[in-house]
Amino acid sequence: MNTISNLSIYKNTPNLGGQKPQLPNGTASIRNVYIETYGCQMNVSDSELMAGILTQSGHRTVSHIDDADVILLNTCAIRENAETKVINRLEHLNHRKRREGNLIIGVCGCMAQHLRDKLLKAAPYVDLVMGPDAYRNLPMALNAVANGDPFLGLQLDKSEDYADIAPIRKEGIRAWLTIQRGCDKMCTFCIVPFVRGRERSIPLKNLTDDVQRLVNEGFKEIVLLGQTVNSYHDGNHDFGELLWRIAEVDGVERVRFTSPHPADATDSMIDAMENCPQVCKQLHLPLQSGSTPVLERMRRTYTAEEYRELVSKLRERIPQIALSTDIIVGFCGETEVDFMQTYQLMADIRFDSAFMFKYSDREGTLANKSLEDDVPETEKARRLNEIIKLQEGISAEINQDVIGTTASVLVEGDSRRDAEQYHGKTDTFKTTVFPKENVQVGDIVNVEIHSATAHTLIGEIAGSNC
Ligand code: SAH
Ligand code: F3S
Repeated sequence: MNTISNLSIYKNTPNLGGQKPQLPNGTASIRNVYIETYGCQMNVSDSELMAGILTQSGHRTVSHIDDADVILLNTCAIRENAETKVINRLEHLNHRKRREGNLIIGVCGCMAQHLRDKLLKAAPYVDLVMGPDAYRNLPMALNAVANGDPFLGLQLDKSEDYADIAPIRKEGIRAWLTIQRGCDKMCTFCIVPFVRGRERSIPLKNLTDDVQRLVNEGFKEIVLLGQTVNSYHDGNHDFGELLWRIAEVDGVERVRFTSPHPADATDSMIDAMENCPQVCKQLHLPLQSGSTPVLERMRRTYTAEEYRELVSKLRERIPQIALSTDIIVGFCGETEVDFMQTYQLMADIRFDSAFMFKYSDREGTLANKSLEDDVPETEKARRLNEIIKLQEGISAEINQDVIGTTASVLVEGDSRRDAEQYHGKTDTFKTTVFPKENVQVGDIVNVEIHSATAHTLIGEIAGSNC
């Protein structure tokens, strides 16, 4: 079996500024690589990075799976069902591998790092298992597997930030920019620190240069990405400063970020959100639970009361702010009283939207080692349904209140349902649909909102006679 430890010569490869280098001696052949992405936006961003690394070394990425001789699944490990989905997909791909013989199948990302060589036991036809800090070795790995041995690249590396790699993005108006990798928070339910390693921030200068390039390529909105994006610190600059500096790049229309941690919501961050016109008035602020004892067991480092106070402060400083959150129900030891506190906090705060999950016990996490996953599955499902119902009602009501107002919308493209309509996002990240007028994708337009569902605003460009 190949391992990555003796194959790390690509580390510190200079940025070739888009030039294609010669394939290294011994490279078997140029490959057509299809990358299929699962999970969060960080994975989407990592897939763009992988495409950059592969292209830089002479390989091609393809947009149709049928054209590929290498298929890489960039995977998620956050909940059990994310991994089950990938195992099913691998079985399907193995049918094709059996037919074609020379297809290379790779599993990359968090699930690869989580399951390690156990993945090869579950799916022995997999050729390559590669974690998030090993992507520099992808070209090397493709060569290595050509001789039939599987390749494992699983070292975590706190110094790896891929700052010198130019990702390959799809054209569009919104670019996702990773500013930080890994997580130091160690929430007890979460697998991320174990599969993505320690936190590291990319130097501000690299990021502002990246943003200038993105603007030159036509992107209008920059979304900064990190596991706890607001704990960003490159040694000299904190997150608030970064927001200002990114927003100052000539041509940047909008800046967003995801996901911040409530404990790192500093005045410097709030000040940038309040006073920097390009920074959108929208915040995804994961709560997880409304019960302080549960938050303690989760090691979230804030109480329910502190979270409430933070929300009050944000709304005082930025009255139009839209808030969304993540909630887990059925965490170890969660009683009906704990659950009702979550329900009540959601009802009081009235988030614009929420991602809601049943707790999923993950092997390797602190909760898995020291707490009992003792809420029955049926009870988790009931609690989840209750908060979903609550949140749907709140989201619908909040959107109803927008009817009759005018929203500033960045035009993103044709509406999925009707090519006569455009869709775009408001500053508060609400999807808005409206008939096409004399405007272009990438324009920011004023849209009068006429109607709304829980998830979409519907209107027309202000002043139009449609
Ligand atoms: N800070 C990260 C969190 C990543 S995980 C970010 O938002 O970028 C995203 C969400 O998944 C978490 O906020 C949490 O609500 C949920 N989650 C994480 N681990 C989970 C688990 N074991 N079971 C259920 N949900 C989980
Ligand atoms: Fe996970 Fe908590 Fe970090 S949710 S990503 S350990 S902030």
